[in-house]
Amino acid sequence: MTAPIVLGVESSCDETGFGIVSEGRLLGQGLASSAARHAEFGGVVPEIAARAHLDVAVPTLQVALADAGVELRDITHVAATSGPGLATAVHVGLAAAKSIAWSLDVPLYGVHHLAGHAAADVLEHGPLPERSIVLIVSGGHTSILAVGDLVRDPIEHLGDTLDDAAGEAFDKVARLLGLGYPGGPVISRAAADGDPTSFSFPRAMLRPQDAPYTFSFSGLKTAVARTVETLERAGESVPVADIAASFEQAVVDVLVTKALRAVQDQGLDTLIIVGGVAANARLRAQAQEHCDALGIDLRIPPPRLCTDNGAMIAAVGDLLVHAGAEPSGLGIAADPSALLHGAQLPLPR
Ligand code: KG4
Ligand code: ZN
Repeated sequence: MTAPIVLGVESSCDETGFGIVSEGRLLGQGLASSAARHAEFGGVVPEIAARAHLDVAVPTLQVALADAGVELRDITHVAATSGPGLATAVHVGLAAAKSIAWSLDVPLYGVHHLAGHAAADVLEHGPLPERSIVLIVSGGHTSILAVGDLVRDPIEHLGDTLDDAAGEAFDKVARLLGLGYPGGPVISRAAADGDPTSFSFPRAMLRPQDAPYTFSFSGLKTAVARTVETLERAGESVPVADIAASFEQAVVDVLVTKALRAVQDQGLDTLIIVGGVAANARLRAQAQEHCDALGIDLRIPPPRLCTDNGAMIAAVGDLLVHAGAEPSGLGIAADPSALLHGAQLPLPR
């Protein structure tokens, strides 16, 4: 029997991704982004994102197939993000995935987008250890998870954010500094010339009485907004680089402190950081420094696999196929607000 070749389809936000994975290895991928079309609005406009997915789906799939050096008929399984995400955007990718699976007469798996972020690391660093802490930091979610076998075991939430996600905080602060969208990369670029100690922005939920793995970023965003307002009202120029660097440092301090605490409290030795914000250079460097000092194995996918892509969804599909999971079937519904309890979204009733 030849090895399964799994096509992954991602369309939950503004990235249209097709990835092809076989036996834990990324064969190739195609990726298109409508981010530039959302920039003037300071955030993703769902209808624009959905139309963009529709426009680019077929050409992006063709890029993935050419990159992998496989024909469409070689695909043995299809996996697609069926949630969470923007409803209209998820629908486009899921409909594309259903059409492909139906026309090829191959099984279809509905995949939880956030499990995809974690699976991206498998493509870079190989199978996950028996148990690890996964810090997911994306535009919509910030969670510390205790993870065993990603597709067989339930995923345990140790803590989440009470309000804004880490990526959302980057996006909102970028907007109020007039830096555009998406916020992460533009804040990082601005921060490179700034002094991270110039403003002491709050690090929320780090007191002993606070929930140890719970995050809150809305106070930080408000503190940055107040600082900008105060400077503007006084007629002073806004030191964008210093504010960006100080904000970024505050986010990174909280993320790294809580993630390391979880690894140590749980007696584990592996920390995996995934999601769009894991592309952040300051976060990567600071996490590495602390993990090295504590003897913790740190795994972070390369930046191109941290932000949304189809390869990560194919990676979950590949794991599901190898675990012998029952396919979700062509009747699977999109679940835009799916909670993360497992890698595969529930089978249709
Ligand atoms: O995982 P992702 O691509 O999409 C979601 O699932 O939400 O994450 C997107 C988020 C955005 O908020 C974006 O600003 C942030 O990831 N991001 C970054 C960086 N690159 C993307 N945040 C900080 N530093 C970066 N280099
Ligand atoms: Zn994502």
